[in-house]
Order: sequence, then C-alpha cells, then structure tokens
Amino acid sequence: MKKHIVVIAGDGIGQEVTAVGKQVLDAVAQKYGHEFTYDTALIGHAAIEATGNPLPEETITKSKASDAILFGAVGHPKYDNDPSAKVRPEQGLLGIRKALGLYANLRPIKLFDELLGASSIRPEILKGADILFFRELTGDVYFGEKGRSDDRDTAYDTMIYSRYEVERIARKAFEAAMTRRRRLCSVDKANVLESSRLWREVVQAMAPEYPDVVVEHQFIDAAAMLLIKDPRRFDVVLTGNLFGDILTDEASQIAGSMGMLASASIGDTTGLYEPIHGSAHDITGKGVANPLASILSAALMLDISFGMKAEAEEVVSAVDAALKAGYRTRDIADADTPDDMILGTEAMGSQILTQLASVA
Ligand code: NAI
Ligand code: MG
Repeated sequence: MKKHIVVIAGDGIGQEVTAVGKQVLDAVAQKYGHEFTYDTALIGHAAIEATGNPLPEETITKSKASDAILFGAVGHPKYDNDPSAKVRPEQGLLGIRKALGLYANLRPIKLFDELLGASSIRPEILKGADILFFRELTGDVYFGEKGRSDDRDTAYDTMIYSRYEVERIARKAFEAAMTRRRRLCSVDKANVLESSRLWREVVQAMAPEYPDVVVEHQFIDAAAMLLIKDPRRFDVVLTGNLFGDILTDEASQIAGSMGMLASASIGDTTGLYEPIHGSAHDITGKGVANPLASILSAALMLDISFGMKAEAEEVVSAVDAALKAGYRTRDIADADTPDDMILGTEAMGSQILTQLASVA
C-alpha cells in the first residue's frame, strides 16, 4: 500500500522521539512491502522562530495533502513563564486540530504487564486493563458562549452539543467497540445537564445499529470512581470534551508513565498521531526521552488511518517483547533495573527495530 505521511516533530523531545517513531514506520513498510513517503513541516516554537507563525500556511497545506500526520510536541520554556505572550507554540496544535476538523481524540490506555509496578494502583486491580477513550475535541463548554457580568462578579460558560456532533464521534466509538471487546460505556451527567440528556439520547438511538455492542451509560462522577476501583470493566469509553479531559488524565495514571501513552486525533480525513506528553524541556537534548509513546502513536496510525491491523499489532508486540526482555528507559526503570538495561531514546528505538526484525 502507498501512503504519504507528514512528520511534524515540533519542539523539544518531540524531535527526538518522532525520529524514532518514523524509523519504526520505515521498518514496517519494508517488512510488509508498503511504500511510505514522507514530508516534514514546521509547528510551534520552531515555526515561530523560522516564520513568526506557530502554524505556517504551508504546514496546513502539506497536512491536508497527506494520509496521516506523525506529530511530536510543541512548547518552549520561554512561553511557560509568560502567559501574556500573544504568539504561542500551542496555537500551532490547536490550530491544526481545527484546520483538519479533528473532532475525536482517541487515547488507548494499555497496560503492559511488565510495567504493572509503575502505577500507583495495585497490580491485582490493574492487570489486563485495556481501555480506549473517545474524547470529543471540538465542542462542549470549551467552545460554548462565555462571558462576565458588567461588574465582573459573575461569569458563565455554556455547555453545548448538537446532535451531529455527538453522532459523528459516537459512530467512531461504536465502530471501534466492534473491533474490540464490544463494550461501550458512554459517560455523561444526564441526571443534571440538558446537553448530557441529548448526548445520552443520541447514543441510545444509535445502539440498535450495533446489536453486538453492549452499551452502558455512566455518570461522570461514578465513572471517575469506577476507573480506579475496577479499570478492567471498561473497553471503549465515549465522552464529551470536558469530562474526557479529566477522565483521560486520571486514566493516564493507570499506565504509569507519560512516556508510554499515545493518542490519535481523527476527523473525516487526515488523522494526527502524537504522544500525550509535551516537549519536556527538562530532558531535551539529553537523549533519554522514552520513544515508546511515539512508536505506539505510529502503531495507531497504521491501525486507524491505514487499516493495517496486523502491522499495528506487530509494533505493539515488539514494544511488549522489549519490555519483557527487561529493557527500560529511565522514566519506566525502577530500583531493580540493572544499569545496563536502562536505554536512551535511540537505543530503545533500536531494540524495537530488532524485535520487529526478529518476528517472521
Ligand atoms: P511534559 O509532558 O513535557 O513533561 C512532564 C514530565 O514528564 C517531565 O518531567 C518530563 O521529563 C516527563 N516526560 C514527558 N515525556 C517523557 C518521555 N517521553 N520520556 C521520559 N519522560 C517524559 O509536560 P510539561 O513539562 O508540563 O510541559 C513542557 C512543555 O510541553 C510546555 O511548554 C507545555 O506547554 C508543552 N506541552 C505540549 C503538549 C503537546 O504538544 N501536546 C502537551 C503538554 C505540554
Ligand atoms: Mg488535560
């Protein structure tokens, strides 16, 4: 299969980990006889330095013309301490999501057995947890009407959803559930909020189209509790922008390290794949960043954008095998990890490539 990929590595460790993610895509292409062509584009601080704009027009044009985007991170210490800066790196990321209509954010929380100890939750509760979140990304209280009273003492934000916004992401979630354990948990606050009643109504109405999927509805407060109490009960979780923001940060703790978590942002055309972590200035340039989140993002691209299920599974298995063999980056190492098993970014990437090459 022929695919064209735009690599937008961005800032800080985004550059370091994305280079490794791309190597893995190359290895998969070679092994399976696919032809992946690449282009690169600027974003974030690097783009501001070069052009004055965190999201140059050229980056949008190239992205729209691609089959998928491998994204790194945006951010620079210069802006973190200056909230008043008008031109900022994160405008690049928000801008590209908007320009490409990426309304669904997928965050798989997959726990590798070898890393059970890295989480603050007890291993016997976590073992086998495997959740796929669908967070709506372009609606909700973040984009509804907001304002202040004249005396500035009252403020409001509007939680707003329309039927088509719920339908389009619910469809993606139902379809994903069909390829997994066929359970869909829709999270809302329908006992109190009108927008949640619409959310629930839309999901209910679609359920008969997917008779094989077991649908349940949970209120956000109960879902937050159940996620820690019994994470294994969840398969696909579907929720709005605000609830999803909170719930996915909570869920990231199930997997232990930021360096392990991948995400996909999808719409009806080009998908964008990125680690959930940022540009990590504290470790930039040291060669120690964990590249597995970028590698797992590449696996999501293979699966979701290209429909290459076997290839995607093989990448995940290669990560699993490297962890089973005892290899760790610093962020996922513990007191028992021997020094010579703690690898830098490139060396961990090489291990994954070796694992990929070793499976027939
Ligand atoms: P961060 O995710 O960059 O780092 C948080 C902590 O996790 C740091 O101690 C870092 O060293 C560690 N970490 C993150 N990824 C790692 C990896 N792959 N391997 C090993 N350790 C890893 O978040 P932080 O420090 O709050 O923000 C840094 C910059 O990144 C800021 O400018 C922020 O605005 C930006 N940012 C960008 C995001 C994006 O591009 N999607 C998301 C979050 C933050
Ligand atoms: Mg958040």
